[in-house]
Amino acid sequence: MILPKLIEEARILSHKAPIAGVDILTLAAPLIARSALPGQFVQISVPADAGFLRRPLGIAEVSRTEGWIRLIYRQVGRGTEGLASAETGTSVSVLGPLGRGFYTGLEHPLLVGGGMGLTPLLFFAAEHSNTSVLMGGRTREEVFWEEIYRPHVRECFVTTDDGSYGTQGFVTTLLPKLLKDDAYDGVAVCGPPVMMERVAAIAAEYGVPCEVSLEKRMACGLGACLSCAVDTKSGRRKVCKDGPVFPAGEVYYAS
Ligand code: FES
Repeated sequence: MILPKLIEEARILSHKAPIAGVDILTLAAPLIARSALPGQFVQISVPADAGFLRRPLGIAEVSRTEGWIRLIYRQVGRGTEGLASAETGTSVSVLGPLGRGFYTGLEHPLLVGGGMGLTPLLFFAAEHSNTSVLMGGRTREEVFWEEIYRPHVRECFVTTDDGSYGTQGFVTTLLPKLLKDDAYDGVAVCGPPVMMERVAAIAAEYGVPCEVSLEKRMACGLGACLSCAVDTKSGRRKVCKDGPVFPAGEVYYAS
């Protein structure tokens, strides 16, 4: 049976663009804010989209006391561009919180993210008192996330492909040294599949449990339509309902 989820008419409190093409959207959604957990997502209606399919967006942060949720997303098509141009003060329909999030009962997790994969990990960092983050981007501009993460994490490690900031290389360049030097008891990773696969392999080499957050096209977001189904080592799973977070060893990364 599918449990009822919350649908809130959420007022847009603010839009902010840390870099061109990326939007930080803060919405008044007290009921969702109260019950959301790190790694979960919402399905949001897009005002300018005549197709009226909701878009899945990971929850980046919440304030339970002030009753808002924050979403950080890249504008990649008509839907997200329409969302970014919606006026502050207007409302959008938000369904959530959805899915299964990260296991947060760890002493000192290492969060590893690339690009917009840093969105759900930010919620993890904000809710846990002892995380460190390893983030990667192509250029200095793409690691604007550092400033956002700093207040929430113990340490922040940055790599850029072009060496314009932090360590030159990928997150996987730095990861073995971090796992060797510090006592992390878990890794949570979100980013491109090839990155997650490599991070999961390195974590396994060092005997550190690892969870990955998958991104998949979705329709219902509730486990009813099968559009997000993936094959895992323990059978067919729905990313929207059984995930988006899975144990790293369960996943076929090419799927
Ligand atoms: Fe419909 Fe996952 S989106 S089952």
